[in-house]
Amino acid sequence: SLDSYYVSEELGFVLPKPLDKLPPYYQPWMDVAMHVPELVQSQELRSHVNKMALLSTEFLQKHRELRLAHLALSMMTMGYVWQEGENNTVNTLPSSLAVPYWEVSQRLGLPPILTHADAVLANWKKKDPNGPFTMENLDLLVSLPGGESVRGFFLVTLLVELAAVPALRNIPVVINGVRCCDTEAVARGLEIISQSIQDMTDTLKLMHVYVEPSVFYGIMRIYLSGWKDNPGMPNGLVYEGVQTEPMEYSGGSAAQSSLLHCFDELLGVNHEEKSRSFLTRMRNYMPPAHKKLIQDISSQPSLRSFVQQQASERLNQAFRLCVSKLLALRSYHINVVSRFITVPAAQARRLREQSQSAEGGVVSRAPTALEATGTGGSGIMTFLKTVRDHTKDTLLPET
Ligand code: ALA
Repeated sequence: SLDSYYVSEELGFVLPKPLDKLPPYYQPWMDVAMHVPELVQSQELRSHVNKMALLSTEFLQKHRELRLAHLALSMMTMGYVWQEGENNTVNTLPSSLAVPYWEVSQRLGLPPILTHADAVLANWKKKDPNGPFTMENLDLLVSLPGGESVRGFFLVTLLVELAAVPALRNIPVVINGVRCCDTEAVARGLEIISQSIQDMTDTLKLMHVYVEPSVFYGIMRIYLSGWKDNPGMPNGLVYEGVQTEPMEYSGGSAAQSSLLHCFDELLGVNHEEKSRSFLTRMRNYMPPAHKKLIQDISSQPSLRSFVQQQASERLNQAFRLCVSKLLALRSYHINVVSRFITVPAAQARRLREQSQSAEGGVVSRAPTALEATGTGGSGIMTFLKTVRDHTKDTLLPET
């Protein structure tokens, strides 16, 4: 059952009822973490962190305490590293932050950097606890510079995760159906999954309502980027008190959401080598139980072969519909990326050229290193288009 993978029947990969407080001992962390946007703005975050005492992690016990601690330490770390933009980064994360961050990360099996599991899955609260999951009734627990657009970016992504819950619930239905040779059950499961993927695409459209491209690109985005495959931090980061050698970690990426990995494994999507290696690496940026679910789906008998063998018209259609919906979601994602990254990147280049000839100042904090690269380190458009094209190859020849 999904429960054994820390996947909830109601919320999927989303962490149910995240805590918004740590034990009082950790107040020094929360005092900084809850003010990352302002402290970055006034360029005081680094000095606040440098003054912070090194706290023990032994008073963090429950899973949800560790998740909130990881979220808070992650937000502080991103603010610390990128406070001065891409040109004045640091080599070292001070031990007051690095040591507890490392310990909490080890206990959760997450890397010591901000991940999708932090910023989206464990970063929400309902204003009215009995109210619905809507933009109006949701808020972030911890934020980054970029105001309402940060809220929009993370919460819309949360709603996409929730839209996928019926699909997740039906993955075991499809797998069991294949095992029992129950063509109708598999077809029905695939039809529900298709509808759910359609709902994910429709929900993703809210990005355009709640996120301002210039703010996302010019202000927020640098705080999602990491210290691997990033020319802005070519040497990685020393976690002081943990290890003297620098370590490299990738920034945030939608590839850290377990959803599309599950669908790909279920449907039998074969990615090309380079994208596959990036996607596989991103599985280490997920909660280990979620990664395990993906692996267990991948080791099931092939659904695609089953569909071919059964030669049922309804089943064939359901499978085709499902692949088409996944394809449409990926195409829509490319559209979002072009509006939020490609277009503002071209604008920024134009402005830079103009201000070189005149005497303009700095227009935005947008990292030039990330104009064609995702915050996760992929060559973003090439990657997304290759992944989409290989999704298409999963379609069975029309009968
Ligand atoms: N991965 C997204 C980006 O490149 C967040 O900006």
